[in-house]
Amino acid sequence: EQINKGHYEHYMQKEIHEQPESLTTTMRGRLIRRGSSKSKSVLLGGLKDHLKTIRRSRRIVFIGCGTSYNAALAARPILEELSGIPVSMEIASDLLDRQGPIYREDTAVFVSQSGETADTLLALEYALENGALCVGITNTVGSAIARKTHCGIHINAGAEIGVASTKAYTSQIVVMAMLALAIGGDTISNQARREAIVDGLYDLPNKVREVLKLDQEMKDLAQLLIAEQSLLVFGRSYNYATALEGALKVKEVALMHSEGILAGEMKHGPLALVDESLPIVVIATRDACFSKQQSVIQQLHARKGRLIVMCSKGDAASVCPGESCRSIEVPQVEDCLQPVINVVPLQLLAYHLTVLRGFNVDQPRNLAKSVTTQ
Ligand code: G6P
Repeated sequence: EQINKGHYEHYMQKEIHEQPESLTTTMRGRLIRRGSSKSKSVLLGGLKDHLKTIRRSRRIVFIGCGTSYNAALAARPILEELSGIPVSMEIASDLLDRQGPIYREDTAVFVSQSGETADTLLALEYALENGALCVGITNTVGSAIARKTHCGIHINAGAEIGVASTKAYTSQIVVMAMLALAIGGDTISNQARREAIVDGLYDLPNKVREVLKLDQEMKDLAQLLIAEQSLLVFGRSYNYATALEGALKVKEVALMHSEGILAGEMKHGPLALVDESLPIVVIATRDACFSKQQSVIQQLHARKGRLIVMCSKGDAASVCPGESCRSIEVPQVEDCLQPVINVVPLQLLAYHLTVLRGFNVDQPRNLAKSVTTQ
């Protein structure tokens, strides 16, 4: 067991730190960047006979649980942008509870690290009965979801042992960004955007290596938050999923109450919680919603909120209001890939909080790596 962990103390720690490599493996052989810019594209072998059908679908429905659901949520905006197809989100159990409508004209995408989660598998059977084209995105070759879907993409992140998913999350987002490129097809109008994303994907492992250098800083922050009861994480747009996923990590392993909040909903409830003691992480990296997040920060500050702002490198001085505000500066990448970078400090924070609070990192109480019963 110690050999598998290498020089790391825990699998979760190892899996966080191996993300530059797992992302490289995920993209291997799938990015095309031949000389001229025109040929920048992606190649997803597992989809090649079905791309036309996917492009013609009336709707794309993402279905998953836990971290896999969050990864799909992170990829939703770029899929909508590049494909022009409406994308809806379904937590597998909720779709089953409602027996929500699924049509023959739908493409249903099942996202699951293990490929064995009971609710996701049942939702797959339900979608198959309703005639949808079913696509699997899993990390496990030969898993039930990989076998039962019509086509799919393996994320190739390597075995993930820690119950809390980390490297599978970032690989899932990357695969879904590649899916968006594949479905979107080449049009003159989106050519520059597509090229920027392909270039961004190439460079992503390096940027993840850079953000991992925040390890000690996140340990210091964990030390500061060790005795807190609760932590809020505000995000929006591409990084609403980051807020949910960061909060999920803190909840799962550090056993601290944590909630991811859609910043646009701040005035509809969450603002009532703000005081001088409750720590709040606000994700405010550069994207089209940056100025809206700056305004959120100002409003939280005006109510004496205890702020920890995650911002793009070089922005801390201008984005942080007041002395008491802490910052986490991260490298900036193409907006749709930014969730891959932004989740890393939160994974590190959750990891260090868990160790410092003395809880079991790799097997948090009451939780299982794969939930195979309903
Ligand atoms: C469990 C695990 C999570 C995982 C979720 C979905 O709750 O603890 O880490 O995100 O199941 O699992 P899946 O294998 O379908 O991605």
